[in-house]
Amino acid sequence: AFIHSLDRGQIVRSRVESVTLNVAKELTGKTVDNDQHVPPDHMPDMEEIALKYPAKSENTALERYKSDYALSLAKNKQFWQKRAAELITWDHYPYDENKCDDIMMGGFEFGDIAWFPGAKMNVCANAIDRHVQNGKTHQVAMIWEGDEPGQVLKFTYSELLRKVSAIANALKSQGVKKGDVVTIYMPMIPQLPMTMLACMRLGAVHSVVFAGFSSAALSSRISASKSSIVVTADIGVRAAKVIPLKKIVDEAIVMNDCKDIVKRVLVYERERSIASDDDAVPGDVGLSDNKINWVPNRDVNMNDLLPKQRPYCPPESMDAEDPSFILYTSGSTGQPKGLVHTTAGYAVYAAHTIQTTFDLQPNDIFACMADCGWITGHSYVVYGPLLSGSTTFIFESTPLYPDAGRYWDMVQRHKISLFYTAPTAVRSLIRYGDDVPKKYDLSSLRILGSVGEPINPAAWSWYYEAVGNKKCTIVDTYWQTETGGHILTNLPGVTPMKPGSCALPHYGIDCVVLDSVTGEIVEGDDVEGVLAIRGPWPGMARTCLGDHARYLETYFRPYEGYYFTGDAVRRDKDGYYFITGRVDDVLNVSGHRIGTAEVESALVKHPSVAQAAVVGRPHAIKGEAIVAFATVTESNTEDDDELVKELRALVRGEIGPFASPDIICITPSLPMTRSGKIMRRVLRKISTGEADQLGDVSTLADPSVVDTLIDLIGKHD
Ligand code: WTA
Repeated sequence: AFIHSLDRGQIVRSRVESVTLNVAKELTGKTVDNDQHVPPDHMPDMEEIALKYPAKSENTALERYKSDYALSLAKNKQFWQKRAAELITWDHYPYDENKCDDIMMGGFEFGDIAWFPGAKMNVCANAIDRHVQNGKTHQVAMIWEGDEPGQVLKFTYSELLRKVSAIANALKSQGVKKGDVVTIYMPMIPQLPMTMLACMRLGAVHSVVFAGFSSAALSSRISASKSSIVVTADIGVRAAKVIPLKKIVDEAIVMNDCKDIVKRVLVYERERSIASDDDAVPGDVGLSDNKINWVPNRDVNMNDLLPKQRPYCPPESMDAEDPSFILYTSGSTGQPKGLVHTTAGYAVYAAHTIQTTFDLQPNDIFACMADCGWITGHSYVVYGPLLSGSTTFIFESTPLYPDAGRYWDMVQRHKISLFYTAPTAVRSLIRYGDDVPKKYDLSSLRILGSVGEPINPAAWSWYYEAVGNKKCTIVDTYWQTETGGHILTNLPGVTPMKPGSCALPHYGIDCVVLDSVTGEIVEGDDVEGVLAIRGPWPGMARTCLGDHARYLETYFRPYEGYYFTGDAVRRDKDGYYFITGRVDDVLNVSGHRIGTAEVESALVKHPSVAQAAVVGRPHAIKGEAIVAFATVTESNTEDDDELVKELRALVRGEIGPFASPDIICITPSLPMTRSGKIMRRVLRKISTGEADQLGDVSTLADPSVVDTLIDLIGKHD
């Protein structure tokens, strides 16, 4: 429990005050109309409800949103009933508009929420089979572009059905059945989303671990989820760099208790998998002289196994509340949480949000640049676009490979219409200038999305002008691994945009601002507090794997009666929301959530480190940078430079390269209270060069530590 009773207000408040992300500093209050867009008719269901409960006026799209939104809350069960009926083909659906009282059960108190209980469906059949049955046999479902520009594969819906079925049958042949957890540690090759879909087809629970995580991080996730099957590839390739994934899996399995847990490791050879000819033989695989170390009785070559499989596998009819996947994310303790998502509620929510937020049409080419290892990849690379029967784009490389024009080159070549990336990627491109996007024909673009962190107005303007040519709507989508899909966003043609603001709540989501200390609702506009949600929605995660108490403690106990997001927020005079940063000890580095406690526990594993404290500070491209402070044990004999190098390597090994601290200060002492608590607030202020605003430091055991730390940080700037 990181926030409790009396302590709670203080902790949250001090954090709210100290959040000084670049964005918060340059927030603007202007709105930008997006009347280039005709308001899409994306809420046909609301028409009918609206006829029954007429809104007072319907002058503008915004007013229409406001009345639709109010209605979606007032008639919440009817609203989700209609959306569920429209968006999903059910095997069994016992609800209609007159009978939907039981469509949601349980609540926040015990975290026993259920949506659509008694209903049955299969996510994979909804994402593939029904489109094939509805005449989309030849429509391209997936476009894959590999690390090298122009290295492209396309799969129609019927090809996808055959490929996914074969993988499902291959998994089955290795003993995978409904309810089993399958860990997927793969590069962004087509077989990654296909394996996810194959798990869904069988009712197996996938746990995708981002292929940038280290063997130690992978091992703890395999161990925590008791996953007996691991699917991987020999190598991953990003920006021409080879990552030896299978080797990392081998290392992971000798750690913890994984040796006893893991029964099978299924290995794709990347080169064979992406060869357009199915029967490609292993040969000179160029990039991979990385010989696979096949472990007998455990490892199986997927490329040998697949040609033997039947190209059809019947989908398992799943209960609405059956778990569909686990995804680990950082929290305020050292141990990452495995959030468990459901079958039907998640699918309804992913489809609903992508269709409303992006005004997604069947002929759209939807390109989300996220890796499938994160929630954005789950909801908006794989499930949202395919459940909607559109074309999804899968990208293996990085925005800067081979040059800063990569994204725009792909938009031009593939006629991408909806493009979705993180502010950190936009910021990394700005420095190469406006001329780069100008070289390409970007006229196919309709909507540009932003996700993962607040988008600072400078990045927003560049995205809007240099990329979107002032013709595209930018949707700033706020959400979390826990929420399953967008929670707050502007809607194209409906809500005007405001740079830096994620605008207004999504339909059906009852967002409130709470006073961080009292937990009371803060009414009205031009206010600040913490962001919370009153009432369940279908896409929310239902538990933390194996630790329901932690789920309750983290999300529902801090403010009784609400789901607590962990984010601080400002609602401006127009009712627009601006996220100002996390109030727990979670950093947002390049759009990735990293718990300070995770980095700290990695650092203290070093025998020379006595204590460690980690804080974030603004970074021009990454959003936040990681600053670590460490004190050494008496027995330490190493020189500081050497130790810093070892500590960096340690964090890379324990978590992954993306969590490696930007700055590590070896310090004789840390700012401690007399009762022995580290004062992180002081470290944050010193790291951000705001030592003049330290506030009350009278509780510091040794005030002289402040000057020492200022000197140390100064040496790094
Ligand atoms: C932050 C990523 C501001 C926020 C989808 C949240 C954002 C955390 C936005 C979740 C946004 C995400 N504006 N902040 N548009 N989107 N965040 O679980 O702090 O990786 O709590 O999910 O990212 O990160 P997660």
